[in-house]
Amino acid sequence: MEKETLKSIKFTDHPVSLEILNQLLIPHETQYMKIDSMVPGPGSSFSAFEAIKGMYTRGAPAIMLVGCFSVVVELYRVILNHESEVMGYDIDDISLFKSHLLSQIDTLVSSRPTAVNLSNACNEIREVIKSFKGSNLKDLYNEILGFARSLYESDLRSNMQIGSHGKRYIYDELLKENFSGDFAVMTICNTGSLATSGYGTALGIIRALYHGENEQLHLPFKMSHVYSLETRPYNQGSRLTAYELKHDGIPFTLISDSMASFLIESLAGSSKDRKAGLDDCPVKFIIVGADRIAKNGDFANKIGTFQLALIASLYPSVKFIVAAPTTTIDRNICCGADIKVELRKMEEFAEVKGAEVRMNGTVVKDPEDGHVILKTVRVAPSGIDIWNPSFDVTPHRLVDAIVTEDCVYTKSSEGVFSL
Ligand code: MRU
Repeated sequence: MEKETLKSIKFTDHPVSLEILNQLLIPHETQYMKIDSMVPGPGSSFSAFEAIKGMYTRGAPAIMLVGCFSVVVELYRVILNHESEVMGYDIDDISLFKSHLLSQIDTLVSSRPTAVNLSNACNEIREVIKSFKGSNLKDLYNEILGFARSLYESDLRSNMQIGSHGKRYIYDELLKENFSGDFAVMTICNTGSLATSGYGTALGIIRALYHGENEQLHLPFKMSHVYSLETRPYNQGSRLTAYELKHDGIPFTLISDSMASFLIESLAGSSKDRKAGLDDCPVKFIIVGADRIAKNGDFANKIGTFQLALIASLYPSVKFIVAAPTTTIDRNICCGADIKVELRKMEEFAEVKGAEVRMNGTVVKDPEDGHVILKTVRVAPSGIDIWNPSFDVTPHRLVDAIVTEDCVYTKSSEGVFSL
């Protein structure tokens, strides 16, 4: 039985309310935060821009959805409060309001520049705003509300389809090579419910594989283990993916990013010694998400993804799979060289944030309010130079398959993807 997956975004329109799961507190606490505007400004206490830039919400599809719902919240706020006067123009002057809204959307999109989903969706919202000829802001609100809602529902549907297409591809590959027995998969970052509307992309495939128990009864193989990379420097793997896998009861082992090649080699080899402490089945697939896919299949994903693709390319028995909805494809760029990679603050690398623990390993809670006490510790000398790209770009030649909700793309005999 699949457990209900975790919800990173809660939106209602009666009354309008947008809340996000504060992912900075996961795995220690479940706390939702209210988003009351699109970007910081007068009358706003917590905006989507701050939530996205500050990594309270992250993952390309989740960023897109929070951003789009925040446009709805923003419009509602203006309609409700007649804030236009405060902002220096008349509510009747729709064209001035529209240009103000468009410039707020530009700011919102700049919050995380690599993930393209938000920017793709905002381009559609921009078109709705530009072509809006009415005089009642409520009509514009309803149009954008409808758009955001359908985006959310279609992301959820896409994830389920990605899960089932990815599972089918994996079964076919294993059948082709007459593989039998247990196998493992490896993943990086967090691509699950927390990074999307629910279920997940790469983690969605892993969920589909694990929960396909009935099919596995008739198949000679079974996915029995997941290796999750901790994903330095921000630890989305150890904080978020480990939390989701534990929540779903999927057997997994957390490893550091630097252990990936030794683990694959140890499991592929015959030395019993090397496999000590590991589930004795080979890693057959590395499954990752994407933040932007160029037309030729080059793609940006969490830093550390490129090296996984290089490792897989050295092992003919390990296939490298990218899982993403079509909203992650950027048809305006030909190749990975055109992808802007976000550089994050040095502190995110030099400092580690976590829950304070007692000598016996239990997490310390504030006796007054019962909340976990988060501490930040520095793990590098101060005043040094640090390079902290949030993503890397993997060339398509290292990719075996790109799984979307529409289909599984594989390369032609010339090594070309037709996305
Ligand atoms: O910096 P993050 O946590 O937003 O990075 C997320 C990733 O790299 C994910 O793999 C990607 O967004 C796909 S999420 C379904």
